[in-house]
Amino acid sequence: MRIDILTIFPGFFTSFLETGILRRALSTGVMEIHTHDLRDFTHDRHRTVDDRPFGGGEGMLLKPQPIFDCIASLGITPLPHRDTTRESVILLSPQGRVFTQPVAHTLAATERIVLICGRYEGVDERVNTLLCDRELSIGDYVLTGGELAAAVIADTVVRLLPGVLGNPDSSLHESFGADDSQAPQADDAVPRATHGSGGLLDYPQYTRPADYQGAQVPPVLTDGNHVLVRQWRRRAALEKTLRNRPDLLAKASLNKADRKLLHE
Ligand code: ADE
Repeated sequence: MRIDILTIFPGFFTSFLETGILRRALSTGVMEIHTHDLRDFTHDRHRTVDDRPFGGGEGMLLKPQPIFDCIASLGITPLPHRDTTRESVILLSPQGRVFTQPVAHTLAATERIVLICGRYEGVDERVNTLLCDRELSIGDYVLTGGELAAAVIADTVVRLLPGVLGNPDSSLHESFGADDSQAPQADDAVPRATHGSGGLLDYPQYTRPADYQGAQVPPVLTDGNHVLVRQWRRRAALEKTLRNRPDLLAKASLNKADRKLLHE
């Protein structure tokens, strides 16, 4: 798959693209990422990318022309003819729909995505309405720009691509894994039944040593009884979800034993 990132800070992505799993995915060709400096698409001496909002108000907006010209240079199918299951142009902004693991799975199945990083107080809305088929936020907080959000999305999507993680099941047996049903699901749905975790947060894990400065690993994990390990993990996942994300319990697939544990 190919990701194009439009930004006024292309340097932000340098070390990100040279690190860890992303670096490997880029070098093996599973993913291509191209950053584009919006200032390269300006026509004035000062390489101006922003302007004041009509109607007054605080701050500056990214103006449409450099973004429209950059998108035109990428050969993306214009709306409304774009097949958004193959190509998607996404504006990153705090006003977008919230990016979740199901959205990541949808994007991982897309051949080409373009991420437009907003800056300053925002972006001229015509960028959104005329160029973008999605507007995404990575959470209910305001960043100084969309670069971190673009990095979050690229990082989340790359690990879902075939062959990127050593163990092909790794991305399934985790909190917020892909939905395991065959039924079509809107990608903005609340995470529900998942492989392994059933819509719960992951259970806690431990590695050696079994005693670290007096803090013991739960003995059930070192005793070799796989049935008891599975029961312990389920209970621990339920407890953690109840403590940290009780909102997930309403959508999780819980059996009778789970419900009994929750009411203990
Ligand atoms: N730009 C500023 N805040 C953002 C957020 N929460 N998500 C995506 N882009 C943003």
